[in-house]
Amino acid sequence: MFETLKAQPADKILALITAFREDPRDNKIDLGVGVYKDATGLTPVMRSVKAAEQKIWEEQTTKAYTGLAGDPLYADGMIQLVLGNAVARGNIGAVATPGGTGAVRQAFELVQMANPNARVFVSDPTWPNHVSILKYLNIEAVSYRYFDRETRGVNFDGMMEDLKAAKKGDVVLLHGCCHNPTGANLNPVQWQEVIDLMNAQGLIPMIDIAYQGFGDGLEEDAKGVRMVASNCPEVLIAASCSKNFGIYRERTGLLMAISQDAGAQALNQATLAFLNRQNYSFPPDHGARIVATILHDDALRADWAAELEAVRLGMLDLRQGLANELQRLTGSDRFGFLAQHRGMFSLLGTTPELVEKMRADYGIYMVGDSRMNIAGLNTQTVPLLAKAIVDAGV
Ligand code: LMR
Repeated sequence: MFETLKAQPADKILALITAFREDPRDNKIDLGVGVYKDATGLTPVMRSVKAAEQKIWEEQTTKAYTGLAGDPLYADGMIQLVLGNAVARGNIGAVATPGGTGAVRQAFELVQMANPNARVFVSDPTWPNHVSILKYLNIEAVSYRYFDRETRGVNFDGMMEDLKAAKKGDVVLLHGCCHNPTGANLNPVQWQEVIDLMNAQGLIPMIDIAYQGFGDGLEEDAKGVRMVASNCPEVLIAASCSKNFGIYRERTGLLMAISQDAGAQALNQATLAFLNRQNYSFPPDHGARIVATILHDDALRADWAAELEAVRLGMLDLRQGLANELQRLTGSDRFGFLAQHRGMFSLLGTTPELVEKMRADYGIYMVGDSRMNIAGLNTQTVPLLAKAIVDAGV
């Protein structure tokens, strides 16, 4: 049987981890996978996470199963974090999932169960795994224009024009904040226009929010999601705790299905739990328990928010530093967009050839589409990257 297997395409982001590790150069710079790193290149365990783990270790008396939906305290805490009071709790079905990717996968499966003809509209570009999972599930993905390669901002007119081609029941996948890979985001006026279009055409919004707190702040980053959640009749939201709690390997996510019709909630909830059961039975608990412990304890929550804010401000400083250095070297504002982008990533908007040249000549690793992880920089490497960008002829 195994001889019939075909090699699957390697994930471009994950392949970079190996390539970087194998590069013997001392001065190499890793701007690949979306993992936060501090100024010393470490991905630290947050203080609040350590404290929560200690509390769990001291107080936990059993490792028996939770429930198919995971711990309700986790879901409640995350719903509050992502949605605030935008939607009544009784209108939200929610299950814990293994990471944000687990939530994305379950959301697509729910779409397929509910409407096998639904297509999923994805931004061009989007996180490559969105497209890969859709392909794996045999769901048709349709791209809509998103990134303007001239301004490096959002091509909003192109986006709206392309979304007009979506039909009733199609799903529109949006990034809640800190768009991956571009770093270019919708403003509130644009969110409202997208909402109006989706409602007028009977489209179902699905929001992937994996970087809340990395852009303009915890509340600010949730504005778009909350607008959608309170204005659209049905919404899917996949939230990740990997980045903002720094618990990547604990695989901690939440899938929410919102309906303005409270009667639908019980069925949504039961269907999401059924999907968990089919795929992996009970969702992992350790990460979810850390998050719930932090979110339901005022002191821990305040400490976590402060740590996250420091991370966010550090990345903004690096963005500004890089934009300033490029301004100094080129004497132009051509790279000013780097300071305008938000989140962990910026798409430089250059060719795969120049990305490869920067890797070969300068040991700078970014994803082939020219996505840079800003958190991979520090004050010493900012000038090196800026010089490489200019020397390579970007
Ligand atoms: C990324 O985009 O680099 C992260 O979301 C990590 C991943 O799984 O691809």
